[in-house]
Amino acid sequence: MCGIFGIVYKEDKDDMGKILTKAAKSLTYRGYDSVGAVAVTKTGKADLRKDVGKVDEVAKKLNFEELCGNRGITQLRWATFGVPAQRNAQPHFDTKGRLVGAHNGNVVNTIHLIKELTAKGHVFRGENDGEVVVHVIEDSFNRHGDLDLAIREARKILKGDYAYTITALKGEKMFCTKMGSSLYLGVGDGFVCCSSDLPSILNLTNQIVPLNDGEYVEFDSDSYEIRSIENGEKIDRKPITSPLSPESASKGDFPFFMEKEIFEQPERAQALLDYLAECDELVPFAEEIASGDRVYLVGSGSSYNACVIGSYYLNKLGGCATFPVVAGSFIEHFGEGIRPTDLFVLVSQSGETKDVINVLNMLTARGMANNVLGVVNVLGSTLMMRSRRHLPLLSNLEIAVAATKTFINQSVLFLALAIEVAKLKGRAGDLPETLDKTPKAIKDTINQMNGWAKELAEKYKDCVDMYTLGYGATYGSALEAAQKIKEISYAHCEGLYSAEFKHGPLAIVTEGYPVFYLTTVEDQHMTLSHINEVTCRLGSAITVAPPSDLLAKNSTMFYPLPHSEYALVPILSVVFMQLFAYHLTVVKGYSPDFPRNCSKTITVD
Ligand code: BG6
Repeated sequence: MCGIFGIVYKEDKDDMGKILTKAAKSLTYRGYDSVGAVAVTKTGKADLRKDVGKVDEVAKKLNFEELCGNRGITQLRWATFGVPAQRNAQPHFDTKGRLVGAHNGNVVNTIHLIKELTAKGHVFRGENDGEVVVHVIEDSFNRHGDLDLAIREARKILKGDYAYTITALKGEKMFCTKMGSSLYLGVGDGFVCCSSDLPSILNLTNQIVPLNDGEYVEFDSDSYEIRSIENGEKIDRKPITSPLSPESASKGDFPFFMEKEIFEQPERAQALLDYLAECDELVPFAEEIASGDRVYLVGSGSSYNACVIGSYYLNKLGGCATFPVVAGSFIEHFGEGIRPTDLFVLVSQSGETKDVINVLNMLTARGMANNVLGVVNVLGSTLMMRSRRHLPLLSNLEIAVAATKTFINQSVLFLALAIEVAKLKGRAGDLPETLDKTPKAIKDTINQMNGWAKELAEKYKDCVDMYTLGYGATYGSALEAAQKIKEISYAHCEGLYSAEFKHGPLAIVTEGYPVFYLTTVEDQHMTLSHINEVTCRLGSAITVAPPSDLLAKNSTMFYPLPHSEYALVPILSVVFMQLFAYHLTVVKGYSPDFPRNCSKTITVD
């Protein structure tokens, strides 16, 4: 997935290069194979600089700070069409050098369009689909010189999911279009800008205009007009004030965003609980789950792992069976069997993950958009805008690619939903107190266990393979622990149901092989056997659980969580494993924030 940013001021600015570089840096988590920036002056002179590499490197090497103009575009690339190479970096000029633009997303008929337009005399400098977008628009522009019309005509030619921004060197307007990838407008004092994501806008203004798919915008320094891409009809939409602050897009005193975001978890969990106590969305959301015929919880990556924890809570506490499904598998494995009475809870912190949006599009095509509830973090995201009902995570911006505070708030939200469902079914007991204790329990876990996690990471810094096992409450936690270890430290780790380990994977165990057990005391009657199956074969059982002499005695290493109700163990055990994965990554010399090959939000298939 990539990131685009475009901005228009009234007059040429000598610091346009600095503005674009700052915007690019705040979008780094969206892709960091290559980066480019272009500034265009009011007289129509364009200066385009781009190359392979991270923002700091390229901006320094190509002197971005020299860029000057009243319009600017920058783009961060996570390669899909075309290898990471200078020619495929964005932004791109058209053949005649009259247009310049950049895109994010996937134009799936790129190869065909390059052939077709080359035959018509277009000159392509690379194989990137972003360049195809500019040339398709140029092809119409050549016929009538009307950029607005060319953008609407391009809609019928470009296939796939994308968002782009483009400007004609002659003139003072810029355009941007949203067709399946995230895009927002920012409105400030003396400028209007567009971006794939909020951090680059929040540096400049908190006045945000969310956009929907099928909309495009013509904007200049002090005005914007949203139009339908189908017919050019004007759409009125006022800016909303984003609750997010620019500070949340900075590391503060922390060495990495990930550590900052782990330490923010208690306060973000509290913010969510405060909201849920006041809002009128939680109960109706829970009522729909409680009365749903079949309820699917659908997500990708860490969001899927939260769905697994959610299905445990809803079953065990709420007495309501739900089905956690990996978003990318939903259409193939469940698409033909869904019923009009089914309910779909789509979970995505970004609200833009393509695998999740594909499910949303399929349900919409089946006339079931009304059966979709959303759990999202990003205000104005596609999932939020298109869910009939949604609940926000209130995690604030999460910059590190690996989900931490958004995962924890997804789990807290599912706990809150399960308690509401339990209340509706008269089985809540003293569970509401458990919820109230969550932020402090998370804080105690960080304070009590961060040092232990660091020591353990140093012990295992050369380890290249391990397992994390969970049972019942902690199965989703084991999956998330494995996700964190793989995603940032690059050690291989598989998360598995502990009862399943003996059916084959136990073969991997040799002397000292590390197997993490995340478990509750209530489940130790089962997990003790699972631990013994490993230790009797000289494997190392590293158990993370509330205090238990039995578990401690039978484990190779035992890390006691703070005393807490069993319902919090799924959450607290992940907090310890986040810290372990973080320290393991740092001690191995890697960056926890922007792991190789990954991207914060994958908006391609
Ligand atoms: C992946 C990230 O790209 O997207 C994961 O690497 C994340 O960390 C997953 O969990 C899902 O993202 P989202 O925005 O749908 O929750």
